[in-house]
Amino acid sequence: MKFKIAIIGFGTVGQGLVEILLSKKEFLKQTENFEWSLVAVSDFEKGSVLCNEGLNAQELLSLTDNSVPLENYTGNGIKGLTPEETIRRSNADIVVETTYTNIETAEPATSFVRLALSLDKHVVSSNKGPAALHYNELQQLAREHGVQYLIEGTVLSGTPVINFVKEELAGNEIKSVKGIFNGTTNFILCEMEKGKSYDEALPEAQKLGYAEADPTADVEGFDVAAKVAILANILMNKSLNPLKIPRRGITHLTPQHLTNALKKNKRWKLIGEITNNDGEVVASVSPQEIDADSPLGSTNGAMNAIVFQTDLLGEVTIFGPGAGKKETGFAILSDILRINKLTKNKFPES
Ligand code: HSE
Repeated sequence: MKFKIAIIGFGTVGQGLVEILLSKKEFLKQTENFEWSLVAVSDFEKGSVLCNEGLNAQELLSLTDNSVPLENYTGNGIKGLTPEETIRRSNADIVVETTYTNIETAEPATSFVRLALSLDKHVVSSNKGPAALHYNELQQLAREHGVQYLIEGTVLSGTPVINFVKEELAGNEIKSVKGIFNGTTNFILCEMEKGKSYDEALPEAQKLGYAEADPTADVEGFDVAAKVAILANILMNKSLNPLKIPRRGITHLTPQHLTNALKKNKRWKLIGEITNNDGEVVASVSPQEIDADSPLGSTNGAMNAIVFQTDLLGEVTIFGPGAGKKETGFAILSDILRINKLTKNKFPES
């Protein structure tokens, strides 16, 4: 079976996914028995094109690289559809939802996810809004329609966290979670330690594809609050609202704070924490001075790290890239390959 993919939101993550799909086409066929065709791309700014027989993905990437609207696509296709029309009219098996995150309303992403699931399409999303605010409802909807709603890319980009903890650590109680969840702020803090100003470091993080469309979400801690809520909701079965999590960002930190900490062998890090005290779950987001030699203290650039306290295994640390085009593109691919495996196990071809 060839999976038909529609992408809603063709920014850094969507483009990262298509670049990987193209460069690894043969490899994915040989190693994962996975074949794909791109049937639709819809983006608020870049435009939209749909062709249920398949689009030329390379041409769509080239148009975007050259800032040319997708309506200039030269092959067959219906142009100018809204995201909703694209989802309704496409024959996609998998809708990749990678529009911008809105942590207050989780819209319009949640409506796109609901629509796709209700049309029996799998959804793979790196969008933190729907995952933080509506995870249980969307999972339920996915179950009712016999499809998957997978969100590995919402936490630590492609570094396995959600699927790993849910599956490989199953049977453990997660007592606490403490980590660096945001690549942009960790990158900025590291650059400031090296002598750059905040105003120099932030545009660099944006250029490298780490920052959110509105970087306030990164530097004021909203992005970490969303990721903390997602983990609490999925791993501890709670319903934490990210907007109610006590939160402080990094904008008040000066080069002086960072140098003073380094003199004490400490480093300022933006830390997200969850503690589960016999069912009472408390979460927070705050900059903290961390021992420079500890796993969290030695996490540099856009790398992230999470320390899980578990009852059976003790401390488990996950360390890896937390943001970036290829890294989050891979997160989406990993969930798509999961759907490929689940489908093939359910309906073996031979
Ligand atoms: N803006 C986010 C970060 C992207 O910097 O970590 C990945 O969620």
